[in-house]
Amino acid sequence: DIIYLNGDWITSEDAKVSVFDRGFLFADGVYEVIPVYQRRPFLLELHIQRLQRSAEAIGITFIEANYWYQLVDELIDRNNYDNGLVYIQLTFGADSQRSHLPTQPLSPTIYASMSSLHVHWDTPIPVKVAVLEDIRWQRCDIKSISLLGNIMLKREAAKLGAFEPLLHRHGRITEGASCNYFMVKNGHLYTPPADHLILAGITRTWVIQLAKSLAIEVHEEPMNVNELQHVDEVFLTSSSREVQPVGQIDDIIVGNGQCGAITAQIAEAFHASKR
Ligand code: PDD
Repeated sequence: DIIYLNGDWITSEDAKVSVFDRGFLFADGVYEVIPVYQRRPFLLELHIQRLQRSAEAIGITFIEANYWYQLVDELIDRNNYDNGLVYIQLTFGADSQRSHLPTQPLSPTIYASMSSLHVHWDTPIPVKVAVLEDIRWQRCDIKSISLLGNIMLKREAAKLGAFEPLLHRHGRITEGASCNYFMVKNGHLYTPPADHLILAGITRTWVIQLAKSLAIEVHEEPMNVNELQHVDEVFLTSSSREVQPVGQIDDIIVGNGQCGAITAQIAEAFHASKR
C-alpha cells in the first residue's frame, strides 16, 4: 500500500513522524474516514466539509478543499482497492520539544492511507449492543483523534459480549463509540439531534435523506434509554458499517431479533444510492 505523508507518496514502512508531533504527544488532531465504492469516494464533499470544521475547531488553519479532493483521488489511483476506506489524519504538527502550548508556529502533519471495505449489506447479521454511560468529553461533534473514551467504552462493551456500546448521558441516548444510532417506532424513525454530544455522521445525514425520500417520517430529537424497551427496530450507521441492524440491547431482544422491515428498506436504498 502507498500512503501519503506531508507531500510524499511512500510505503508505511518508510513513513516517519517526529516523537514531538502534537498528535503523538497530546492527540492534538482530527481525522476523517471516507468510503470508496467502485474506486469513487462516496459523499466526499460532506466529509471534507466536516474535516475543515473539525480542523478549524482545534485551531488548524484552513486548507483548500481542492487539496483534499486531489489527495483522495491520487490515493485511490495509487492503491488497488475497488471498495475501501480512506483515512485522513491531520495533527497540529511537530514541535521541537514537548510543550502543552506550541513553542513556535507549526505546520500540520497530514497523513492519509487506504484499507479494504467489505459490507455484507444483503445478508445483515443483527448485532448485540450494551447500554453504557457516555464518559467522553463535551465536544463529540469534533472528529478528534483523541479516542481514549471511545476505546475504553468499546472494550467495556466487548467484555459484555456486545459489538458496540449504546451510550447515554444521564439517561439521554447519544451514539455508539464509532457510529450513530437510529430507532424505529410505529413506522417512524428517531435519532438523537446533531449537537455537541454526538458526531454528526455523514452516513446519518444520508440515511435521514433516504428515509425522507421513502416517505418515512424522521424525528431528530432526544431519547431516553427507558424508551428502548418499546422500540420496534434499532440500527446503527457509520462509513465502515453503512446500515447495521441491532438485534439485542443488553438482555432485551429487539423485535424478533432479526433485521426489521424498515431497516432492510433503508439498507437497500443505501446500497442502491452508492451507484
Ligand atoms: N467513525 N460517531 C462516532 C463517535 C464515530 O466515530 C463515527 C465514525 C460516527 C459515524 O460517522 P460517519 O457516518 O460519518 O462515518 C459516529 C469512523 C468510521 C471511525 O472512527 O472509524
